Amino acid sequence: MNPVIFDSDGGVDDAQALQMLLAGGVVPVAVTSVFGNVSLAAATRNLLTVLEVTGHGDVPVYSGAKVPMVQPIIDATHIHGEDGLGGAPRPATIPAPAGDDAVTFLRETFRSAAAGGTKVDIIMIGPLTNLALALRLEPAITAGIGRLTIMGATVYGRGNTTPAAEFNICADPEAAAVVFQADIDTIVVPWEPCTTHYISREDARALVAAAPASAVRDFSSALLEHACKTDEFYGGNGKFKYVDPFAIAVVLDLSIVTKTVTASVDVALAPGITRGMTLVDPSGRLGTPKITLVEEASIERLTALYAASIAYHA
Ligand code: BDR
Ligand code: CA
Repeated sequence: MNPVIFDSDGGVDDAQALQMLLAGGVVPVAVTSVFGNVSLAAATRNLLTVLEVTGHGDVPVYSGAKVPMVQPIIDATHIHGEDGLGGAPRPATIPAPAGDDAVTFLRETFRSAAAGGTKVDIIMIGPLTNLALALRLEPAITAGIGRLTIMGATVYGRGNTTPAAEFNICADPEAAAVVFQADIDTIVVPWEPCTTHYISREDARALVAAAPASAVRDFSSALLEHACKTDEFYGGNGKFKYVDPFAIAVVLDLSIVTKTVTASVDVALAPGITRGMTLVDPSGRLGTPKITLVEEASIERLTALYAASIAYHA
């Protein structure tokens, strides 16, 4: 596997995702933060918190875009809590970021990978702004990008932020359009399968109970309880849905995926009720179908990876 960069907007499921990646034995070369679920400052602090809790405080974190490319900022504090981590307990000290220019970091990393004939992968589970800005400034960096794994978009037009649009695309549609048009090997976990891949609160709590007592377990438990409470508040039965961690599971073990569609992905940019909607076309009429979108995966194997993340410590 290529070295990997983890780009995220630091919410509850982003924290679970980073834990899962680390527990899967993949330590990212860097973490880059972006506005989204919470402000850039809060997202950065949250990602630093996860690294500290898991014993990976030495992984460099670069903060990135504070706002979208064109439109005003939106957030999702109603889902992730004011702090973005649902009030989960934090260590007494949190390391400082390594830098405040994630876009330059991405450009330099992919440029030098390309120059050396290698590639670096990137996982993006927030708005796609950092990579879009890097691509606009330096399109040739695609030569140094290995696989891009995204959690975001809708495959059948059933959004979670508007009826048509998923949050990570809706938060910066222009950025998403830039990234989906780029010549990059891309795999996407869209929103709809996240609504059908879940476990009950009771089953999730049993995973926590089975893990050895540790700060990671306490942290995981707080994140889980917040996620289930939010599901309940919005009309669910308190289930635990795999959202950002779903993308990580795909990175760790692609063989968990049992159904995909390969398509071109366009983003609706016109103002109005469809803005941020993704148009997924497997037919080839709108462009070359080259982006893989996940539709189904093994819930048992997803859950095994989640369980490992609760029991993890470096
Ligand atoms: C996505 O938006 C955020 O709220 C989550 O962290 C996830 O990345 C789901 O639409
Ligand atoms: Ca996210």
